[in-house]
Amino acid sequence: MKKKDYLATVLSIVCVSPLVALAETRVEDVFKANCASCHGANLQGGMAGSLLDSTWLNGGTDKSLTNAIKQGIVDRGMPAFASSLSDETIRTLVVYIREAGYRAESQAIQTPTLNKKFNTQHHTVNTRAITSAKGIIWAMDFLPNGDLLYTLRKGELWLLGKDGSKVQIKHTPEVWQRGQGGMLDVMPDPDYAQNGWIYLSYSKKTGKNSSGRDIGITAIVRGKIKNNQWVEQQTLFEAPQRTHRNRGWHFGSRFAISGDYLFFSNGDEGQQNDAQDLTTQNGKIHRIYKDGRIPKDNPFFSQSGALKTIWTYGNRNPQGLVKHPTTNQIWSTEHGPRGGDELNLISKGLNYGWPKVTFGMNYDGTPITPHTNLPGMQQPIHQWTPSIAVAGMNFYTGNRFSQWQGDLFVGSLAKTQLHRLRIKNDQVIEDEIILKGLGRIRDVVTAPTGELYITMNDRQTKTSKIVALSPGK
Ligand code: HEC
Repeated sequence: MKKKDYLATVLSIVCVSPLVALAETRVEDVFKANCASCHGANLQGGMAGSLLDSTWLNGGTDKSLTNAIKQGIVDRGMPAFASSLSDETIRTLVVYIREAGYRAESQAIQTPTLNKKFNTQHHTVNTRAITSAKGIIWAMDFLPNGDLLYTLRKGELWLLGKDGSKVQIKHTPEVWQRGQGGMLDVMPDPDYAQNGWIYLSYSKKTGKNSSGRDIGITAIVRGKIKNNQWVEQQTLFEAPQRTHRNRGWHFGSRFAISGDYLFFSNGDEGQQNDAQDLTTQNGKIHRIYKDGRIPKDNPFFSQSGALKTIWTYGNRNPQGLVKHPTTNQIWSTEHGPRGGDELNLISKGLNYGWPKVTFGMNYDGTPITPHTNLPGMQQPIHQWTPSIAVAGMNFYTGNRFSQWQGDLFVGSLAKTQLHRLRIKNDQVIEDEIILKGLGRIRDVVTAPTGELYITMNDRQTKTSKIVALSPGK
């Protein structure tokens, strides 16, 4: 078809069809009405080129795709959409193109089943199952003696001895098992050998809202394990009563400990505008002392009305939080909406932008904002569009994988991937998918043996595994 014909096609769609006004809502409809006639219903190409491959006219950056859609590429027959589609809708189209391209590309990667060697960029790797459980293993961490603690989201804390014995810890706090809630993070104190403290986060039912529905919060406690029982519990943080309205979403919540400070994340609880509101705990990373006192040098400690525990804000739902082993920087992974999962470097008092800026769109394909950046808001160090559903992560500090020293391993739920990030001067210079297709990867930790441990769960069988990665030689 000639250039004129392309234009005629598009003019008839853009100017005549009433679909376009409607189509401003969901990206699937916008694409169908405005783009599919040339690029194909599945972006595979037709009259115009494929939007799935990685062959681009201008490098394929977000900016070049946005410009192509806005201004068109008139001499090739790509019409301009700046006057018919809003900036925020054009942003959703870029996310949509990324999603489709990613689907096409990552289908190729598939890790073999457990106990079979496979190659990665720097190491040959082998996998073996350490344990399995019914339900979702949400978090795990090692005690100094090599025993492993892990939580089951349904409300249990377990201790897996290095001799293979397994015991459920009795009398842990009752959790509100709803939506994404339940028993969440567990972390022993870095001085565990001296003080015996273990930190736990969980969702807790606190009452009913005005329509009679259960509501709850993210609760932060610490306690000790004696004779396989949870004892000496202390409450470290509970949000003020006036803010309780979570119905089951975006609880957070991971820990990082640096010196005397305990950092924890509280997701936006499904109230996205709360992330910019300093009077609520939602959409924030908080900093308290390990005993629950609030440090006076917290950034909003003296601001009237603000919650004194807030360390950063504009964080949608951070489910990975970790202290760098040598620099002590705090890093977080944060679930974006549809697109725009983030890796952030967490620094005092900063605004990470949600929901005023994001690389993503709403789950239904409607826009959130055209802005991926605004003055006064932090950019992520790295972002994933489409979303991989970023979860727990950790730096590798063991001695078995010599080429992975200091690399950051990040679990992905939706894409069932384990990512290895190499970070240099606060920039991600490698993002390698190490493993894919074995399960939803929710937590990662370096074992005292030097192996890399990951948790994975399978939605079909409703079971979880802890799997060890070791060098395959
Ligand atoms: C009338 C036909 C036509 C329509 C309708 C159309 N395009 Fe295009 N588009 C083209 C042509 C032709 C090109 C030039 C390169 C090629 O052939 O792929 C192009 C190029 C592009 C590029 C740049 C690709 C690159 O290599 O950098 C993007 C992105 C794009 N189109 C997206 C869209 C989107 C999104 C829509 C709907 C809002 C759309 N197009 C509607 C014909 C069309």
